[in-house]
Amino acid sequence: MKPLGIGVIGCGVISDIYMKNCAIFPGIALRAVADLRPEAAEAKAVQYGVPAVTPAELLKRDDIDIVLNLTIPKAHVEVGLMVLDAGKHLYAEKPLAGSVAEGRRLLQAAAAKGLRVGSAPDTFLGGSHQTARALLDTGRIGRPTAGTAVMMVAGHERWHPNPDFYYAGEGAGPLMDMGPYYITALVNLLGPVSRVVGMAARGRDRRIIATGPRAGQDIPVEVPTHVTGVMEFASGAVVQIVTSFDVKAHRHTPLELYGTDGAMLIPDPNHFDGEVMLHAADWEPQVMRHAHGDGNYRGLGLADMADAIVTKRDHRASGALALHALDVIESLLRAASTGRAEALATTCDRPAPLPTGTATGQINMAEMAE
Ligand SMILES: NC(=O)c1ccc[n+]([C@@H]2O[C@H](COP(=O)([O-])OP(=O)(O)OC[C@H]3O[C@@H](n4cnc5c(N)ncnc54)[C@H](O)[C@@H]3O)[C@@H](O)[C@H]2O)c1
Repeated sequence: MKPLGIGVIGCGVISDIYMKNCAIFPGIALRAVADLRPEAAEAKAVQYGVPAVTPAELLKRDDIDIVLNLTIPKAHVEVGLMVLDAGKHLYAEKPLAGSVAEGRRLLQAAAAKGLRVGSAPDTFLGGSHQTARALLDTGRIGRPTAGTAVMMVAGHERWHPNPDFYYAGEGAGPLMDMGPYYITALVNLLGPVSRVVGMAARGRDRRIIATGPRAGQDIPVEVPTHVTGVMEFASGAVVQIVTSFDVKAHRHTPLELYGTDGAMLIPDPNHFDGEVMLHAADWEPQVMRHAHGDGNYRGLGLADMADAIVTKRDHRASGALALHALDVIESLLRAASTGRAEALATTCDRPAPLPTGTATGQINMAEMAE
């Protein structure tokens, strides 16, 4: 089958892994790259053997079916709308948009033109999270009733040379930054969220940059940096979540789920690999039978979307899933400021699980038979 053509807009830090991984999925092929900064596009063009063009030129190319939007969060909607307007399918890095209202604009524009919108994170398609999903779906912990999601670090100013955007402006704060991974992983496992309560705090009003040319400079903190809450899922399960840039050390695991017949420890949802532990009589590591659990497979959701376009089925890392995750984030933050429980305005289906027994680069069993 002829691969679908991919054009990348945004040639920054994260673009490398996507461009590298285009080569391992037979259903997609990198065709051209673009950036506001021509030198950034040129560098990737040389590295990956494709032409560097302007974003406008990229959108006019007939050999590009899907545009991969890897620009900074505040450009996601503007660039996304241009992509859809040009009649191309869109797959974007997280967050889908700065707000649920903006995210809806993207999905409505795509629906009006019969185009697809897909979004990171796609780590829930990795071997470890698909293993957890299979264990859950076969009833190995019984009916899931509760869980915890914990992402607590001391703050990105300790390693990032320009950490301003983590503390002020669109997409700032630990929940906006890391929440998409945890919430998407939980929606994959438990289904949509129906209601949330939240509380938030700010550890410090200013942060000091620790590395790079601006080391020693202090920057303002304009958002809560410790956000905690409870998500009630439509299934009835309740999961505590905490995301923080205010914690120097802790010993919680990233994700735990508890059911009527057991419990499960699920690896970091920012990664594709890691061991799932299941507790029936005692904690036991689980065998991974799904592909893409031994490395960084960013772009798996894009490859799945390409396969879904060709085979005319729903794609898994969908715009609807990303919009719902954004709604959970926005609702938790709103609940933290109003002090009330907030009902979610959006919902979505659980993405279909991936089959076991496929190899790296393969999405479904049909490809194996070819
Ligand atoms: N860096 C990471 O580790 C990481 C991890 C996961 C997700 N992400 C996400 O990936 C996205 C990109 O992050 P990054 O770290 O690569 O950022 P970056 O700043 O390194 O790169 C972004 C690139 O987009 C370009 N750009 C900005 N606006 C543009 C526009 N309107 N048109 C064309 N090009 C434009 C910039 O010139 C820059 O080269 C973000 O949404 C981020 O949340 C990053």
